Amino acid sequence: MHSLTEPKQATIGILGAGKVGTVLARLAIAAGYPVLIASSRPPAAIELTIDVLAHGAEATTASDAAGRADIVILALPLGKALPLDGVETLPVDELRGKIVIDAMNYWWEVDGVRPDLTGDDVTTSELVATALPGSRLVKAFNHMGYHDLDEGARPAGDPDRKAIALSGDDVAANDVVADLIDSLGFDPVDLGALAEGAVLQPGRELFGANLSASEIRDVVERAAA
Ligand SMILES: NC(=O)c1ccc[n+]([C@@H]2O[C@H](COP(=O)([O-])OP(=O)(O)OC[C@H]3O[C@@H](n4cnc5c(N)ncnc54)[C@H](OP(=O)(O)O)[C@@H]3O)[C@@H](O)[C@H]2O)c1
Repeated sequence: MHSLTEPKQATIGILGAGKVGTVLARLAIAAGYPVLIASSRPPAAIELTIDVLAHGAEATTASDAAGRADIVILALPLGKALPLDGVETLPVDELRGKIVIDAMNYWWEVDGVRPDLTGDDVTTSELVATALPGSRLVKAFNHMGYHDLDEGARPAGDPDRKAIALSGDDVAANDVVADLIDSLGFDPVDLGALAEGAVLQPGRELFGANLSASEIRDVVERAAA
């Protein structure tokens, strides 16, 4: 088992330097990962914020972060990642072949009313996967509010340790993301295929959950019953 500060090999790229992006950057830095972080603005525009909120992370462009990172976390508004006009805002080519973690949720106050993102038959992460051909997409870090994420990291085995649920169709990618979640201080709970992540979405059973792994499994079991 790794200690929380042992240097890690994988580089983490984070697209989105807001509430969730900077918390995840902080957790990853504390866990020993090199971190690249980007917004839609030039790196200089976020350098000071990153120095204060995620000291040690490197501010860069989204395409550079995507190109140089081994694991890329999408922590930007979903409506910006999947714009209605279809104009590409994600670095699709650089993300090809990469493990991409979709931490995004549909939030109408931010994303606008988008019937295309709210269908019952498809999760938003499946739509993101379609927009990122060749990426190994895993849904994770969606259900926990950023304050809970910020305060919840605990070493493995701590009785107060909380869990982060994940889902994805690439089993090996899920395993890598589960290890990352563990390194960041949370118990991973793999729900299986990407579509199983429906329970993590706003309005569903696990949205907002700040629970232990066994509590998450109980909720999922009840939801399926
Ligand atoms: N807040 C939570 O507790 C929480 C919890 C779990 C998941 N989430 C999800 O995580 C995502 C981010 O939420 P948040 O609360 O962190 O939002 P936020 O504080 O508004 O931050 C969003 C960030 O995304 C950046 N961004 C916008 N367009 C971009 C692009 N094309 N490429 C790269 N970065 C871009 C923004 O920077 P510029 O505008 O400067 O470009 C900003 O830094 C959302 O999908 C949200 O639903 C949020």
